[in-house]
Amino acid sequence: MESGHHWPGALAHRGFRRLSLALLLSSFGDWLGFLATTALAAQLVDGFEGQSFAIGAVLAFRLLPGVVLAPLVGVVADRFDRRVTMVVCDLLRFGLFLSMPLVGTLTWLLVASALVEVLSLIWIPAKEASVPHLAKEQLESANQISLFATYGTAPLAAVVFGVLGVLKVRTHESAANIGLFVDAGTFLFAAVQVARIREIPSHSESVSAGATPSVVQSVREGLRFARSSRLVRGLLVGMLGALAATGVVVGNGKTFSDTVLNGGEGAFALLFGSVFVGIALGVALGPRLVRDVSRRRVLGPAIVGAGLSLVFMSAVPVLALVVVATLLLGSCAGLAYVTGLTLLGAEVEDALRGRTFGLVNTLMRLALLLSLTVAPGLAGLVGIHRWGRFDVNGASVTLLLGGLLAVFVGGLSYRTMNDRPGIPLRSDLVRVLLRRRVRGPLHPGLFVVFEGGEGAGKSTQVSRLAHLLESTGLEVVVTREPGATEVGAKIRTMLLDPATTLSVRTEALLYAADRAQHVATVVRPALERGAVVISDRYVDSSLAYQGAGRALSLDEVAQLSRWATEGLRPDVTLLLDIDPEVGLARATGSPDRIEQESLAFHRAVRQGFLDLASAEPTRYLVVSAVQTPDEVHAAIAARVLPLAPAQRLERV
Ligand code: TYD
Repeated sequence: MESGHHWPGALAHRGFRRLSLALLLSSFGDWLGFLATTALAAQLVDGFEGQSFAIGAVLAFRLLPGVVLAPLVGVVADRFDRRVTMVVCDLLRFGLFLSMPLVGTLTWLLVASALVEVLSLIWIPAKEASVPHLAKEQLESANQISLFATYGTAPLAAVVFGVLGVLKVRTHESAANIGLFVDAGTFLFAAVQVARIREIPSHSESVSAGATPSVVQSVREGLRFARSSRLVRGLLVGMLGALAATGVVVGNGKTFSDTVLNGGEGAFALLFGSVFVGIALGVALGPRLVRDVSRRRVLGPAIVGAGLSLVFMSAVPVLALVVVATLLLGSCAGLAYVTGLTLLGAEVEDALRGRTFGLVNTLMRLALLLSLTVAPGLAGLVGIHRWGRFDVNGASVTLLLGGLLAVFVGGLSYRTMNDRPGIPLRSDLVRVLLRRRVRGPLHPGLFVVFEGGEGAGKSTQVSRLAHLLESTGLEVVVTREPGATEVGAKIRTMLLDPATTLSVRTEALLYAADRAQHVATVVRPALERGAVVISDRYVDSSLAYQGAGRALSLDEVAQLSRWATEGLRPDVTLLLDIDPEVGLARATGSPDRIEQESLAFHRAVRQGFLDLASAEPTRYLVVSAVQTPDEVHAAIAARVLPLAPAQRLERV
């Protein structure tokens, strides 16, 4: 065991701690560098117009690499040793920041800014792709910490830069120059930190396994993947929307404070601070608040929330209320980022992760920079007019437009990602609200469910897990669906007899009837005693077989099961995933009524399970069943043991 016993969440892993420190430093450096390069640009030229141009040029040079290199950068993270990639990027950024004040010309500043941006674009996907290796079991916690380090350092950098501005009077060295030196230092330090992380594998698994694809091929694959996957598309759209909403407030905040709130610098500082405090709150508390609600269904509503906050700000320009709305906006955006990153980390396979994160990250930076520059421009274009009895103010109009856009984008993202809605969103919302009053689990036991297609080896794994848990002194109840009760056994005969033909709805009702009896007489009593219940199949089998397989409405099947079980949900679901062709070939004996179904049916079932798993990454563990039984067992044990009731009670 590691010494970092007292660290919370993902920080318990030493490698992840080092990576986080490196990220904290380089993010701080990035923000400070952003402020300092803008200031230095203004310092290098004379006159208002020239200065505006210089600042604009620096922004454009930071924007440009993103546009050109978006799909390329992640490939580096997938193809090269990630640790070396990060160290080299940090060392180069150290050199570049050092060179800016030393060379001291606008041209070099522009070129160096663009280079720094390129290096940041390479560093970040390499980092993101490494995180799942360093903190596999605590991906959500890891993403919370990463986001904290990335955005939490922005206000700090603003304060430090302000203090440097004051110091300048004493030392004659300009704030911009000191800022750049400090900045260079943070990158040097980050390089040292990353170099010490030995836990990062040198290559992604598939690359080291041979068959190294060409760069062009990799890029094309990454883009095709993004285009083909509804999930990734919905994620991209959603996260961009959330970022743009924040960017609109930050970019527009100054004019809005001055001309609408009449609050000047103080009001702007308050708004700026509230955005980041809000983001921090959303990142830290959001996931706990939404708990087991499918992460796919959280992203869209969070962005709609951010959009509505913007609309509210533009409609009710009262400082106190605007601050509250800004906090809300930040929280929604924070929740959206952490949700999006978690989904990506959990669902994208390792070989593609660098590319996907690269794409996401590049587009995110682009959206931020764009909204930061476009929003004030738009406000300036609209200007301030009297229109009949109304005052039209560009800053308010921009907030309103940004808000409406975010509401639209949130809705779009929700529709894209929630392609087969299982349960209406309304009931999730109600559950979230009720959860706040009901603390902790409703029973002291642990409910473990195995799911998967035919021939995935569930029964072997069920009994191995049961033995393992029993050996730790726990009471374990092994059970299955359909047919674990006396009534259930009769229902099972009706269901699986190859001679009967059942209507699709009859079939669904019979499985539900078996389940109702099972939960009422076996599962619930055992859980209430504090036992571990391991069930071979449960509700999700109905969603996959009757829903996805028989094409009944998932919504209706889910409702039926919820009614039958009075809403009892598993604590963890282990999906043994296998290609049905392989699985069916493994099955012995004469096929039952379900096993007789077509391959297409079994393929739909498999996809149904995978969709359910990706919709609830925190509840599901997907294990490839083509591994050896020992490997499958090890993965399952690692996931289930930490949840065993003794530890569970300690946590509550
Ligand atoms: P069974 O013989 O219990 O075992 P296995 O799980 O190893 O196949 O088969 C039960 C069958 O019933 C299986 O093909 C899946 C199907 N099934 C449903 O269609 N819906 C459900 O809700 C459940 C629990 C099972």
